[in-house]
Amino acid sequence: MARRMITTELTEEDEKIEGSLRPQLLKDYIGQQKAKKNLKVYIEAAKGRGEALDHVLFFGPPGLGKTTLAGVIANEMGVRMRTTSGPAIEKPGDMASILNNLQEGDILFIDEIHRLNRQVEEILYPAMEDFAIDIVIGKGAAAKSLRLELPKFTLVGATTRAGMLTAPLRDRFGVVNRLEFYTVEELEQIILRSAQVLGVTIEPEGAQELARRSRGTPRLANRLLKRVRDFAQVKYDGKITKQVADFALDLLEVDRLGLDHIDREILLAMMDKFGGRPVGLEAVAATIGEDAGTVEEVYEPYLVQNGLIVRTPRGRMATDLAYTHLGVKKSV
Ligand code: ADE
Repeated sequence: MARRMITTELTEEDEKIEGSLRPQLLKDYIGQQKAKKNLKVYIEAAKGRGEALDHVLFFGPPGLGKTTLAGVIANEMGVRMRTTSGPAIEKPGDMASILNNLQEGDILFIDEIHRLNRQVEEILYPAMEDFAIDIVIGKGAAAKSLRLELPKFTLVGATTRAGMLTAPLRDRFGVVNRLEFYTVEELEQIILRSAQVLGVTIEPEGAQELARRSRGTPRLANRLLKRVRDFAQVKYDGKITKQVADFALDLLEVDRLGLDHIDREILLAMMDKFGGRPVGLEAVAATIGEDAGTVEEVYEPYLVQNGLIVRTPRGRMATDLAYTHLGVKKSV
């Protein structure tokens, strides 16, 4: 069977930026209290029994720590982690090969697991349930099915699009965790920790401003920290104060609520194009040229949580807060 290098789509720039800042153990992981509390118990129980952990699914908007938590689980269990992603595995043979190369207890992390194709996904069913794969050898009447036993492993799946998972796949995960946006206080702690790792001096007010504008998302917080550090170094004396953070974040066009370009487009579409009337998800998505499911599962949650959008039975609406925030006058 041909062996291929299979990597996740996140490996390049993103991984480098995030890698050094990632906590390695549960005790260093800030936020996601509910997921952490549950995982702690499951990890301890599995270790106590000397077994592999049950398969774990993480879902939620991007940048909230799905990959990081997978790594933390591997470290806590004291096992290796193999990483791949849904779109990287093209053929059932690729999946079979990855599974066949696992060792007892290994974690197989599949990012963007909703993007596995059907044939590949079907290989996973018996692998997850019975730790075996069925291989068909030969063609037509001479075809034979061979069952190949696998070591007991843990599949950790991550997806930003829980709605796109098929029921048979979703049902095979014993532990399902929805990751939540981080509070400003949690992001502040993450930023202070990251600043320490990077050796940057940051004042509490600077960290707080960064935290407020990080869209509830550690990945963004760490990225903004690095950019703001550059401004502090070149334009100021190297220290990140509130003033430096404000200056840099304004230049980076990250607004006071951490909204990005697409967030603003979504809100403006609701305000301008539809005159503030309730509007269907499909119509908003078509206006900004995005897929409806992506708008619903990737962008909308933050806007809804922060009271910028309400969902009514007749559709979505931008709230008064959204109008005020964007400085748009309401027409109805
Ligand atoms: N870096 C990125 N995410 C983190 C988290 N949740 N806790 C600590 N450091 C982090």
